[in-house]
Amino acid sequence: MDMLIKLYALGELFPVAPPGVLLRKPLGPEHAFVTQWVAQRFGALWSSEAGVALANRPVSLFMAQRQGQLLGFACWDATARGFVGPLGVAQIARGQGLGAALLRACLHDMRAAGYGYAVAGHVAAPRFFERAAGALEIPDSSPGLYAGLLR
Ligand SMILES: CC(C)(COP(=O)(O)OP(=O)(O)OC[C@H]1O[C@@H](n2cnc3c(N)ncnc32)[C@H](O)[C@@H]1OP(=O)(O)O)[C@@H](O)C(=O)NCCC(=O)NCCS
Repeated sequence: MDMLIKLYALGELFPVAPPGVLLRKPLGPEHAFVTQWVAQRFGALWSSEAGVALANRPVSLFMAQRQGQLLGFACWDATARGFVGPLGVAQIARGQGLGAALLRACLHDMRAAGYGYAVAGHVAAPRFFERAAGALEIPDSSPGLYAGLLR
């Protein structure tokens, strides 16, 4: 199932990282580390999408780090134009607001880039997207863009 997010209605959903957490885009020397980190925790498909986001200019991947430790990542324009995701937080760091902060960072970046809406594709955690960004289910959207994906 895909979900639609109104970027023009983001309002006060500005990204607020939990204390001690830094949200930023990786520098060039960090790109291989980030794609490997994603591959180890979330698999080859998401690592491929992270690579796309890192190749975009400007880069369309945010990461969350605490004291030099990578804790999560989120991408936009990685699956297809106008899509947000993939998005993942390390298991030890879940439930602390990192996922919502990473998602909001991407959504604000998309709005600044000129998009009016974002599509969250093939959503595995719809309640998370509802709570964090007011996402709405897109009817009849599965498998949608992902039909026939080579893997
Ligand atoms: C989904 C995921 C990114 C959430 O990250 P997180 O850092 O734990 O999320 P947050 O702490 O920012 O939670 C934000 C809100 O969403 C809710 N939430 C988080 N994960 C949820 C889930 N799986 N289902 C329902 N609600 C969820 C939280 O309770 C919180 O609600 P609140 O604002 O009312 O307190 C993380 O669980 C993850 O990486 N999962 C595996 C990968 C994945 O499924 N990614 C999404 C791709 S569609």
